[in-house]
Amino acid sequence: SDTPLALTPPMGWNNWAHYMCDIDEAKVVANADALVSSGLAAKGYDTVTVDDCWMTRSRDADGALVVDREKFPHGMEWLGDRLHAKGLKFGIYQDAGHLTCEKYPGSGAPLGGGPDHYAQDARQFASWRVDFVKMDGCNLYVPEGVTKERAYRDAYRAVADALRASGRDMVLSASAPAYFQQGEWGGPDWHRVLGWVGETGQLWREGRDIQVYKPAAPATSRWGSVMGNYGYNRWLGRYAGPGNWNDPDFLIAGAPGLTAAESRSQVALWAMMAAPFILSSQVSELTPEGLAALGNTELIALDQDRLGRQGAVASSNATFEILTRQLAGGDRAVAVLNRSGSARDIHVPLAEVGLPGCTVDAKELWTGERRRVSDALTGRLAAHDTAVWRLDPRGCAGAVPTGQIVGRGSQ
Ligand code: GLA
Ligand code: GLA
Repeated sequence: SDTPLALTPPMGWNNWAHYMCDIDEAKVVANADALVSSGLAAKGYDTVTVDDCWMTRSRDADGALVVDREKFPHGMEWLGDRLHAKGLKFGIYQDAGHLTCEKYPGSGAPLGGGPDHYAQDARQFASWRVDFVKMDGCNLYVPEGVTKERAYRDAYRAVADALRASGRDMVLSASAPAYFQQGEWGGPDWHRVLGWVGETGQLWREGRDIQVYKPAAPATSRWGSVMGNYGYNRWLGRYAGPGNWNDPDFLIAGAPGLTAAESRSQVALWAMMAAPFILSSQVSELTPEGLAALGNTELIALDQDRLGRQGAVASSNATFEILTRQLAGGDRAVAVLNRSGSARDIHVPLAEVGLPGCTVDAKELWTGERRRVSDALTGRLAAHDTAVWRLDPRGCAGAVPTGQIVGRGSQ
């Protein structure tokens, strides 16, 4: 149908970063139930997506995908009904190539060419009352004489058409850009690529997988991965808007291996970037601080702001990065990230965030504390922490639109 989808960034849970292929019905149901009992579902985290490895290695005689009944004994229609009965939405993973990344049957044409399964799979998902399709991009057949980008463009257009033709509204999470520009911010290429990607899907992956949970991996690798994905996604703001979201991959805030400050930072930076809020962790083992950060209604409201404008870097240096974001109704958000490994005092003159000579109402979003501020936003930030304020600049004649703020060190 023509219903606009994902007017604000999708929210929910996906198994991949925590469970990878070690997934089954009981784990999905347990995490879905934990979303509800923790209160996260009621705050908007409502789309539960089963990632790769849910099917068997081959299609049936009619070409339909076959659920692995050892992992999902009641099948996918049952799972969807179970989720819907809890007020949740049902997401599923498939791949636009001929095999998924873990080499299960994909929707795309076989190597060498031949019929694809885009329409058939879309109808099957619609019959299961799927609400969200994560369409990955591994193993795509690229015909000779066709560029990779062109092959991806044609495949994702076919996927989008098939989903529309199925008659059910299903959000399309596209992985396309990640398959030719992994985490590289390339200027004009992005403009072209994200133009056609935005016409097919409502959100898109354009970089690396967030670090998967491995107890043995050094904790710094998880923070490094959060910083890495933030590092390229922060430049892509001009492509975001209602129904079109840059996806820097999952929230792992609250998972083992991130400090409380790092968990707050991921939530704050993802919210400033209007990024999808899709958890990928074991919900029952989230740390109390992580759960509080993920469930902070001020941060959720920031992420879900209906203007849908992604925040941008106002200034940056080796220690601090300052972001600003224009919000519906005239408010603006300001975030300050402390990249350094030690606690720091911060002092951000209002002029530096486009509010020279202004006196503003400022609400610090982690604490809810309100203040009148006429010179600078101040405070103390733990290592790897991020402070966020919501400011009301109405009545200030000198306010510079957020898009025109160019600070020291910004690019
Ligand atoms: C890719 C995606 C991941 C996950 C796996 C599944 O790596 O980026 O998010 O879906 O495939 O195999
Ligand atoms: C950057 C700016 C400084 C200051 C800090 C935050 O380093 O250049 O003026 O605002 O951020 O304390």
